[in-house]
Amino acid sequence: MAHLPPPPPHSLFLLFLAVHGFVASHGLPLPPSSTYNDSMCSESFWCGGVDIKYPFYLSNAIQETPNYTSHYSCGYTDMKIFCQGEGAAAIATLPLDQYNYTVHSIIYDNRTIVLGDKEVLKSGKCPTVSHNVTFSYEWLNYTDSSTNLTFFLDCYSRPGDQQPPNSQAEDFQVDCKGINSPARRGDGVSFVFTSEQGNVSGEYELVEHCSEIVVVPVHEEVLMSEPPLLPNDYGVVLEHGFQLEWKQSREQACNLCEESKGRCAYSENRQFIGCLCSGGKVGAPDCNGSGAAAAYPNTSSGKFFRTAPSILVPSENKRPTCELISPEDKPSSVV
Ligand SMILES: *[C@@H]1O[C@H](CO)[C@@H](O)[C@H](O)[C@H]1NC(C)=O
Ligand SMILES: *[C@@H]1O[C@H](CO)[C@@H](O)[C@H](O)[C@H]1NC(C)=O
Ligand SMILES: *[C@@H]1O[C@H](CO)[C@@H](O)[C@H](O)[C@H]1NC(C)=O
Ligand SMILES: *[C@@H]1O[C@H](CO)[C@@H](O)[C@H](O)[C@H]1NC(C)=O
Ligand SMILES: *[C@@H]1O[C@H](CO)[C@@H](O)[C@H](O)[C@H]1NC(C)=O
Ligand SMILES: *[C@@H]1O[C@H](CO)[C@@H](O)[C@H](O)[C@H]1NC(C)=O
Ligand SMILES: *[C@@H]1O[C@H](CO)[C@@H](O)[C@H](O)[C@H]1NC(C)=O
Ligand SMILES: *[C@@H]1O[C@H](CO)[C@@H](O)[C@H](O)[C@H]1NC(C)=O
Ligand SMILES: *[C@@H]1O[C@H](CO)[C@@H](O)[C@H](O)[C@H]1NC(C)=O
Ligand SMILES: *[C@@H]1O[C@H](CO)[C@@H](O)[C@H](O)[C@H]1NC(C)=O
Repeated sequence: MAHLPPPPPHSLFLLFLAVHGFVASHGLPLPPSSTYNDSMCSESFWCGGVDIKYPFYLSNAIQETPNYTSHYSCGYTDMKIFCQGEGAAAIATLPLDQYNYTVHSIIYDNRTIVLGDKEVLKSGKCPTVSHNVTFSYEWLNYTDSSTNLTFFLDCYSRPGDQQPPNSQAEDFQVDCKGINSPARRGDGVSFVFTSEQGNVSGEYELVEHCSEIVVVPVHEEVLMSEPPLLPNDYGVVLEHGFQLEWKQSREQACNLCEESKGRCAYSENRQFIGCLCSGGKVGAPDCNGSGAAAAYPNTSSGKFFRTAPSILVPSENKRPTCELISPEDKPSSVV
């Protein structure tokens, strides 16, 4: 081994990983003290009227990890924004599970994002209510000002299934045929309830008479307007969208990284894989760490630091060790 020419720094790193067993572990960490392409992590990016910055990131701010089989993002995995269109007309969208939502605004002071359903926004007065809103609670949650509307769709459409006269539910009936997507449902009547209207109004009796139930989050304040918008102007309520708040990462390694003004890089499967610091450096363990002080590889300076990524392994609690090595050194001094 000593007689071999020094391998390029990249393969040195892979060797280092292989020996330390990180390749076999879940979610390949970024090589500590390496460089990353920092032009992928812009400080802030305007998409239409929405300011997009960390922990959100643009969908193109994703790069491959050194083994070229997985990707990492410049921000929290679920906070991926697509920006479509140009200039003031551009529209920011956030995918939650398999649906896309239009981003109305992001308020960084109180970590709130206001979203609207794309389908609702592009239809008129009677938007089709097509799906539940679901998302992972890893980073996102409803705010205190969120409440739900429950839609009972396409009810009493089966032969012989008649709406009882003087049904309590009549007050909640939506006079809006467009609410039923013609492709998927019949032409039965539909109803909408707020969370509070729940059981007093016979909501639960409807279950067996309707072909679909859809629960949609809305902004509570909009429901208080006078005259009331529900049931027929439910489209206006939905247009106002709903609020979600985001939380700080639960990972201590990410918190340290953020405290040192770094950004957490996450893999597609929501694993923290490294701390991205200014100047294109990967911090170890954070941007204050000595690992972030030297660039890798820098052919003109000829020297670089390497830091063991112990911070990335929750079970290991020892401080990272640093070595100063130069490309002339034998690789055996590393491993
Ligand atoms: C590359 O990294 C991914 C994600 O960490 C891992 O699942 C995969 O086994 C690695 N592939 C190789 C060839 O090391
Ligand atoms: C760095 O990232 C930018 C933006 O994502 C991209 O345009 C550029 O090609 C990348 N450069 C390299 C060397 O990967
Ligand atoms: C959501 O938007 C992305 C990016 O434009 C697109 O690739 C995807 O197909 C959209 N998904 C749905 C369900 O419309
Ligand atoms: C965040 O601030 C905005 C604007 O000040 C406000 O409209 C919104 O209700 C706030 N959200 C939360 C969850 O406090
Ligand atoms: C989401 O917020 C609610 C309160 O609004 C809270 O009860 C719940 O525990 C939160 N969920 C998670 C996963 O943090
Ligand atoms: C709204 O529905 C979601 C899931 O469908 C639930 O987690 C949330 O607690 C509900 N919010 C209210 C205010 O009922
Ligand atoms: C709704 O009310 C009925 C009787 O009024 C009761 O039997 C039922 O358990 C209630 N359901 C819920 C979910 O509260
Ligand atoms: C929406 O969620 C409710 C429960 O919260 C469930 O009963 C209903 O079947 C779901 N609707 C769809 C279309 O998945
Ligand atoms: C990193 O340095 C900054 C400023 O010097 C300091 O405020 C912060 O607490 C440090 N973070 C850690 C994790 O040591
Ligand atoms: C590499 O070293 C050269 C000369 O010492 C310096 O000008 C350059 O900025 C360094 N590159 C990085 C990425 O630090």
